[in-house]
Amino acid sequence: MKLFVTEGNPHCLKVVAALEMTGIQCDIQYVNHEETVVPFLSHPALPALLLPSGQHLFSSNAICRYLFEVNGQESSDHCNQWLEWEATDLQHALLQALHMAVLQGKGSEVSKVLQGPLNYLDQSLSKGNTPYLTGEAVSVADVVLWAALYPVLSDSSLALGERNSLKAWFDRVAAMHSCQSAAQKVLQGKDLQGMKSYLQRQPAPQSRQCNSNPAECEEGERAVSEEEMEAAALTWGKSLNASPLATDRQHPILPQEGNRNILLTSALPYVNNVPHLGNIIGCVLSADVFSRYGRLRGWNLLFVCGTDEYGTATENKAREEGLTPQQICDKYHTIHSSIYDWFQIDFDFFGRTTTEKQTEIAQDIFWRLHKHGFLVEDTVEQLRCENCQRFLADRFVEGNCPHCSYPEARGDQCDKCGRLINAVELREPQCKVCKQTPVIRSSKHLFLDLPKLETQLSQWLEKSTSTGDWTANAKQITRSWLRDGLKPRCITRDLQWGTPVPHPDFKEKVFYVWFDAPIGYLSITANYTDEWEKWWKNPDQVELYNFMAKDNVPFHSVVFPCSLLGAQDNYTLVSHLVATEYLNYEDTKFSKSRGVGVFGDMAKDTGIPSDVWRFYLLYVRPEGQDSAFSWADMALKNNSELLNNLGNFINRGGMFVTKFFEGYVPAMELQQEDKRLLALVGWELQQYIQLMDKVKIRDALKHILNISRHGNQYIQVNEPWKKIKGGDTERQRAGTVTGVSVNIACLLSVMLLPYMPTVSQTIRDQLNAPPSCINTMLQGTGSFVCTLRAGHHIGTVSPLFQKLEVDQIEALKKRFGGQQPEDEPPKKKTTAQNAASAQPAAVPDTAAPAAEVATVNGVDPEKARQLTQAVTEQGDKVRALKAQKAEKAVITAEVAKLLDLKKQLAVAEGKSPESAPQKSKKK
Ligand code: 2FM
Ligand code: ZN
Repeated sequence: MKLFVTEGNPHCLKVVAALEMTGIQCDIQYVNHEETVVPFLSHPALPALLLPSGQHLFSSNAICRYLFEVNGQESSDHCNQWLEWEATDLQHALLQALHMAVLQGKGSEVSKVLQGPLNYLDQSLSKGNTPYLTGEAVSVADVVLWAALYPVLSDSSLALGERNSLKAWFDRVAAMHSCQSAAQKVLQGKDLQGMKSYLQRQPAPQSRQCNSNPAECEEGERAVSEEEMEAAALTWGKSLNASPLATDRQHPILPQEGNRNILLTSALPYVNNVPHLGNIIGCVLSADVFSRYGRLRGWNLLFVCGTDEYGTATENKAREEGLTPQQICDKYHTIHSSIYDWFQIDFDFFGRTTTEKQTEIAQDIFWRLHKHGFLVEDTVEQLRCENCQRFLADRFVEGNCPHCSYPEARGDQCDKCGRLINAVELREPQCKVCKQTPVIRSSKHLFLDLPKLETQLSQWLEKSTSTGDWTANAKQITRSWLRDGLKPRCITRDLQWGTPVPHPDFKEKVFYVWFDAPIGYLSITANYTDEWEKWWKNPDQVELYNFMAKDNVPFHSVVFPCSLLGAQDNYTLVSHLVATEYLNYEDTKFSKSRGVGVFGDMAKDTGIPSDVWRFYLLYVRPEGQDSAFSWADMALKNNSELLNNLGNFINRGGMFVTKFFEGYVPAMELQQEDKRLLALVGWELQQYIQLMDKVKIRDALKHILNISRHGNQYIQVNEPWKKIKGGDTERQRAGTVTGVSVNIACLLSVMLLPYMPTVSQTIRDQLNAPPSCINTMLQGTGSFVCTLRAGHHIGTVSPLFQKLEVDQIEALKKRFGGQQPEDEPPKKKTTAQNAASAQPAAVPDTAAPAAEVATVNGVDPEKARQLTQAVTEQGDKVRALKAQKAEKAVITAEVAKLLDLKKQLAVAEGKSPESAPQKSKKK
């Protein structure tokens, strides 16, 4: 074997490091950049490995993998995923970064280009909590990623070193002798400049998709060829399909032979909570954008959702509010509906799970599973409170921890020592509701035999995940469940508020919510149409998209599919599983009890329009990594992107038509410059479509904003307001620029429709656009066609967006930020500040100044009350994470937060924080 490498090439660093690490016998030959090693390639490609067979490998990652394999280290799936990520996502950003740093002298901007991939890597390492990328031992993935990052991470002037997990991992790999030696050989101790000659030979990178925030990665001008310009001009002259898409949907929507039939669900929100912004972007809003887009594409699509109403949480809420569970469900179902209405979530049907259809369908699935032998019985020991006459869910019992004697351990876990507890092991247990001592009772339960379904599940998953669009987190979470081996899951509960188990031996029981809830998708569809089976038992003709936040993934990818597979009734299983990461609020988490964050019912009271909320949430959609809602950023994006960029461009085009051409679109004679713009716009439209087809909703939004940026620049350069005053040629030029601009505005209105439906409609009304303009995306890749022809009369143009003022945002931040720090005095507005705030006082400043809250001897009852709730919430969260088998590191971090909250609580109660967990039980 012979390895051909060249100096100063980071890909060669990979292969030399892999060679050193594996110790494989192989000659290394250094050649110059230009030398052609692999005979049939049109460009010289290095590194290259000549195999004993006489064949060549000429992809650096393939060479590395091959060397490891020869050394007996097959690369795992996990490893291959990293290699793929390196080759696709990371390399693209790296090439751009190196280009900037080495050839353009813009080292200070490198961190912006790399922040997306570096954050992703850092987060993955910190979550994985292992020394190397794929586990305890170094693998080919570590070598490849280390070598790829070596040039940028070892250069301290680029200031990329803020990420702790990434840094620890990088240093660990860099410390290996083989890596050090490879770096010395290939880069010879030279800094980044040592790669100049290699970089000069690489094609200039184009920033296509950006992992960071859309506007922040605005790219340099894309080169447009003559051919592209001519093609764009040709398309521009065509007409769109004249018969517009039917905008009024005819219900019931049913699958149609020969059409793309899409069934789209968004996770069913728990009825008893008011959803916060994170919940809204995680499912209903994302699903809404995609379904609106799908309709623009002409797909035959049904979007269903509804409230998830059964379970202990509803029973408790009912007790708290002195209502029956049904009354609670009715009350909150209405609240949910009105919130989603306000956010313009355009469901085809928004139902609920407490219906007869739910009982019918859930029981049918149950009997089918039973008949096919996928249910097993087991006896479970449980605590029962005879006084309350009910079995106690684990978190409704407290007692002494059997491990550390902490007196307030709960039935599933001890918050002090963090250990998991089996409720029956608690010493001196108490019912949390009535404080009586419960008794141990054994109770028979039914379990879904997941191990028996595992093979079938794996086969289906392999197909679905490879042909469908599953987000990376969805695939990863699913894989980790399968890797740990499936265990039978209990599907029954000793509760009243649930779908009754129909089996005579389990008469008193109901189905566990997570068995029952996904069946809600079917029953809700059944409440929408009697022909629901055409959607749900039609896997060959229907594609199912499930939208959710990542904590819901295992139930949708493992448990529910197993229920349906086991029931053997030709069910439609998920084809595309789209899961978001989490949205934080500022730098903390949303919390109802602490009054932190914006909840669905509050958004409308801010005076900020629904479309602007949608825009910003979609702009920071946690796609690929966690993100945060920030008031300051929302104001910034509103003022820069919506007002100055998008709104400004659309308004300018319309105003020119109105002012200079009496409201009639002028004649347009395209010159090279216009054609170039048409080509740029057409390209952005294609990118938008490609991304949207793959449900990359946040990334696609960037291309809308790019178009208006191009448009503003075009207007700026051509100055139609000056040319209109000139001679004939100049006036004609002003006309062309104006006509092209309003046509772009019209295109933008269509691209915006999924994101900002009201603004989209307003633009089309202002332009008096023909209904057929929304046919733009019907054809495969979309085409930018002149839809407002010369002579078309537009409507009345007015500004689309309003500025968000600093004052207003500060007030909102204060209002929704939760408690104020104790030492912050209440701020008084100056008259000048008041006058500066343009919008009416839609935003009363209601935050109580903390200094005025009564505290006696350091005891702060209000704070204590809030913290008590926060502790409960956090405890619930920890338990949920454990139940979902979340990563260990995540659980540890959340337990730490819980302990911290308990300390704060102790302080608020006037106790020493250290004594918090040890305090003796009140008798
Ligand atoms: O996490 C939740 O909000 C659950 N109510 C989601 C249920 S999704 C589906 F299974 F119904
Ligand atoms: Zn009790």
